[in-house]
Amino acid sequence: MKIGFIGAGGIAGNYLASLARLGQPVAAVCDINADQAAKVAAGLNAKPYSDHRAMLEAERPDAVFICLPPGAHDSQTADAALAGAAIFTAKPVGLHLDQALRTRDAIAKSGVVNSVGYMARYSDVTDKAKELVNGRALGLGTGRFLCRMPPNMVWWSKRAICGGQMLEQTTHVFDWFRYFLGEAAEAHAFGHRGFADDVADFEDATVCNLRFASGAVASITSTLCASAPECFVTEISGRDIYLRAIMDNRLEGSIDGQKIDFTGEETGYFRQIEQFLEAVRAGDQRRVRCSFEDGLRTLAVSVAATRSIETGRPEKPIEV
Ligand SMILES: NC(=O)c1ccc[n+]([C@@H]2O[C@H](COP(=O)([O-])OP(=O)(O)OC[C@H]3O[C@@H](n4cnc5c(N)ncnc54)[C@H](O)[C@@H]3O)[C@@H](O)[C@H]2O)c1
Repeated sequence: MKIGFIGAGGIAGNYLASLARLGQPVAAVCDINADQAAKVAAGLNAKPYSDHRAMLEAERPDAVFICLPPGAHDSQTADAALAGAAIFTAKPVGLHLDQALRTRDAIAKSGVVNSVGYMARYSDVTDKAKELVNGRALGLGTGRFLCRMPPNMVWWSKRAICGGQMLEQTTHVFDWFRYFLGEAAEAHAFGHRGFADDVADFEDATVCNLRFASGAVASITSTLCASAPECFVTEISGRDIYLRAIMDNRLEGSIDGQKIDFTGEETGYFRQIEQFLEAVRAGDQRRVRCSFEDGLRTLAVSVAATRSIETGRPEKPIEV
């Protein structure tokens, strides 16, 4: 399989490590920062590009990994799909819904296999939680993303590029709840500012309540200025069932009075790449756990939650 990358920063390195573990070479690396493209490509014996269209035309890759900051998404994914490449894109699928909808349509038109890097869907902990829930009704989700913004994150500190913390990071929590509780119908959020005005031009702490179409409800907290020992945590509850997933590897709780205490080994980062390659080889979209359109639905929840802070009202995610 011939693989290309568009964007060659932090998450690209993570995906490249999984491809190396699978013995899968990479043919081409594109980054608008030509030095970065050259550096990463040299380590892979790949060809560097600074223009993604030039890469698509010259290389005709079978699959392209899109590893761009949210606000940098333009036509890259659509161009790759229309050139016939399967798509693996880092989360979130973009910043603006209209642009992401256009990309979704281009992917549908091309019919290529497509996947979004919501790695938590592929973890042992998530597999175990799915097995234990086994179709039982769930009424409540509580979750959090409590971290500290890493230093020198130029784009991550700007709402115009990252969209704020709920769009950029808490999106993992929103997506996990969609995976277990179904579609979110409404979001009502509040934000705090003042602790991190020197490092980010958006809220440093948020709370968001979600109402799901199933009738389930969820409450999600986030901060970017105080890392907690357990940053990404989700809890789901129903009658006589309570599960607490501590990403990346712990699942605790109780079901019908039986204690649950599980430690996973696989975090999902590797398996999402492994399953994507299998899906591309087999031409089988069903092997992917989060399609571009599914990821777009998660983006719509993040956008509704972020808009709710501005309007002060509950907001509905757009229909996708
Ligand atoms: N757990 C996860 O799944 C996870 C973890 C980290 C980051 N991410 C996501 O990955 C995405 C990228 O984050 P990152 O940490 O790799 O950022 P990064 O800044 O480290 O890398 C982004 C790269 O994209 C390049 N770039 C920007 N615009 C471009 C364009 N138009 N064409 C080609 N290259 C371009 C930049 O020069 C940079 O090298 C973000 O959406 C982020 O949310 C996901």
